[in-house]
Amino acid sequence: MIKVTLIGKGNVSKHLQRAFLATKEVMLFQVLGSRKKELDTALKNKAIQNKINASDICIIAVSDHAIKSVSQSFTQFNTFLVHTSGSVSINDLPKSLNTGVFYPLQTFSKDRLVAFKTIPICIEAKEKKDTELLHKLARTISDEVHEISSEKRKALHLAAVLVNNFSNHLYQIGHDLCEDNQVPFELLKPLIKETALKMESLSPEEAQTGPAKRNDQNTINAHLKQLKDTNHKEIYRLLTLSIQNAYGKKL
Ligand SMILES: NC(=O)c1ccc[n+]([C@@H]2O[C@H](COP(=O)([O-])OP(=O)(O)OC[C@H]3O[C@@H](n4cnc5c(N)ncnc54)[C@H](OP(=O)(O)O)[C@@H]3O)[C@@H](O)[C@H]2O)c1
Repeated sequence: MIKVTLIGKGNVSKHLQRAFLATKEVMLFQVLGSRKKELDTALKNKAIQNKINASDICIIAVSDHAIKSVSQSFTQFNTFLVHTSGSVSINDLPKSLNTGVFYPLQTFSKDRLVAFKTIPICIEAKEKKDTELLHKLARTISDEVHEISSEKRKALHLAAVLVNNFSNHLYQIGHDLCEDNQVPFELLKPLIKETALKMESLSPEEAQTGPAKRNDQNTINAHLKQLKDTNHKEIYRLLTLSIQNAYGKKL
């Protein structure tokens, strides 16, 4: 049985709680709030202190900018402390503790259930026994466990932002364009699904279609004229240029 203390009550914490509670191999000891006042008060409580000391692992699932300061509150304990961020180095955690990373590579939103079994969990630790423990813990909820260094994780996180956050923002722009022109965004959903599903069998290079790849300048000009927002025009121009450069053509 792996005993876990979770710190933070946001999206990732909630999803991890649900996943850990569904497995018999993990005992979720406690979930602590991470805000300074609440955490300081909690850490003065003897029962909470005992549970931290008895935990095999403490997972800090808080916003990236707060990881360093929240982790400093745990230097008084003899615990194995990990964070869940894609972009924060393992070296941002206190040097005096055994530390690591437990980064689930997925997009988590409130009230949206995810199947953890297929989510890659990127782990990192300095000590071999800690790496083994992270493997063991990650395998209780996922079949995809990968040892990834802080440097490689940063690159993965950047790639994740490009493929997920930026794609989603393009959905938003497409959504607004549909609303402005009173056509249902729903009509685009099979296209959105197929674009993602193609990655199961094609490389992104093979899957690319559209006016930029075809160098269809008339359509490109018409689209640029249709877009009213200057930022959206700029995004369209840049992405078109990027696709054309990738396929060796000029805008
Ligand atoms: N969401 C994702 O898709 C995702 C995926 C993989 C990894 N991650 C990583 O997981 C971590 C948590 O992300 P999340 O999505 O769960 O974030 P979130 O839902 O925004 O929750 C952030 C948590 O951090 C706390 N917090 C924020 N500022 C703080 C501060 N100054 N001091 C102390 N606590 C503070 C918040 O407390 P309050 O509730 O009091 O505001 C909340 O508990 C981040 O490192 C993130 O990069 C996120």
